[in-house]
Amino acid sequence: MSSALKGKRILLGITGSIAAYKAAMLARLFIKAGAEVQVLMTAAAADFIAPLTLSTLSKRPVYSEVSSESGWHNHVELGLWADAMVIAPATANTLAKMAHGMCDNILTACYLSARCPVFFAPAMDLDMWRHPATQANVRQLEQFGHRLIPPASGELASGLHGEGRMAEPESILEFLEKSLQAANQDLSGINLLITAGPTFEAIDPVRFIGNRSSGKMGVAIANAAAARGADVTLILGPSQERPDSRVRLIRVESALEMHAEALKRWPDSQAAILSAAVADYRPAEAATEKIKKSQDSLSIQLVKNPDIAADLGKQKVNGQMLVGFALETHDAEAQAKQKLERKNFDFIVLNTLTDPGAGFHHDTNKITIFFRDNKRLDFQLKSKQEVAADILDALASILARG
Ligand code: PMT
Repeated sequence: MSSALKGKRILLGITGSIAAYKAAMLARLFIKAGAEVQVLMTAAAADFIAPLTLSTLSKRPVYSEVSSESGWHNHVELGLWADAMVIAPATANTLAKMAHGMCDNILTACYLSARCPVFFAPAMDLDMWRHPATQANVRQLEQFGHRLIPPASGELASGLHGEGRMAEPESILEFLEKSLQAANQDLSGINLLITAGPTFEAIDPVRFIGNRSSGKMGVAIANAAAARGADVTLILGPSQERPDSRVRLIRVESALEMHAEALKRWPDSQAAILSAAVADYRPAEAATEKIKKSQDSLSIQLVKNPDIAADLGKQKVNGQMLVGFALETHDAEAQAKQKLERKNFDFIVLNTLTDPGAGFHHDTNKITIFFRDNKRLDFQLKSKQEVAADILDALASILARG
């Protein structure tokens, strides 16, 4: 099968990390897949790998300065030339510059000029990777619409063990191929409704009943669907996550608000993906004033919330597709299959809290998809961005069959 990289022009940005030696293999894989590769290196990267190695492999001069004896390297032209820019390895320093628009070398100058999709594969020590400043920069870059190729876990150059190793060149190639295939706009013209995040059910003006959903899974689906051409409306409960600007965002707090927004928008949608963790119950009455701790115990009467999924399922007409999630702790498969039937889903995405790295809050998830014809698809633990792509592949293939 021909690679999605065939005929593509790739700017490969290499920064100063020990993982820079792997960039030679990456350049070779891109070229073997049929891409043209222009290498950009920071000065620090040249301490780790010789530009000559990369110019020999790419059969093009390597640019490591904005100008050299051969003249000024036009970063604006290079930025426009590229079909994709891949920064691998991406150090904490370069990520910070990118997130804040700093531009003091050929790589960051090309990055600011690039109109193409940008991918970045971080490489650093585990504490640098975990640092809130690095994590904030990564989130910022994702909000710009750039794609994180998540680092792997393992032994690091420092001798420490943990997350921070650059993804292997083969995984970076696979990630890029999938993403560029996805750029085929196979969801173009589809109105897609997505619910995501938790709901908060007010007890009084200060307190609420909530749950541990971060919104990451649903926001990843929304961003990926918008990149594939869908017209996406995201109904998002209280969450720190921000979808990219192509997504129409509706903020809600409670299950009742999410229910009302979803029902209003469902008739105009071809498909809905319900990833929200909706509270099943809410306090029968929310106190208008802060409840004082005057008693030793306190009972709060709860009433059932409407089931958004079941209500959309009841109103589903021919040609509409409804995709649900199931978050389980036990009897996972049986529970998921029951929900598939009961809520009239076309397929259901099961994630279980017993799988390490799956479910709430993680940047990763591990899913199984169950279809109505008893078919199932099992997936490995992956980043939520990759999981989003797998779910949308399933949706797109059913939509394509009509
Ligand atoms: O947000 P993250 O931190 O990234 O975590 C992602 C996630 C774990 C929340 C997500 O992957 C997930 O599993 N979402 C569904 C959680 C859930 O509430 O599952 P459930 O089995 O209780 O509900 C089944 C389905 O019915 C879901 O599609 C749910 O959105 C929907 N539902 C449930 C209750 C209700 N009142 N209305 C609904 O629409």
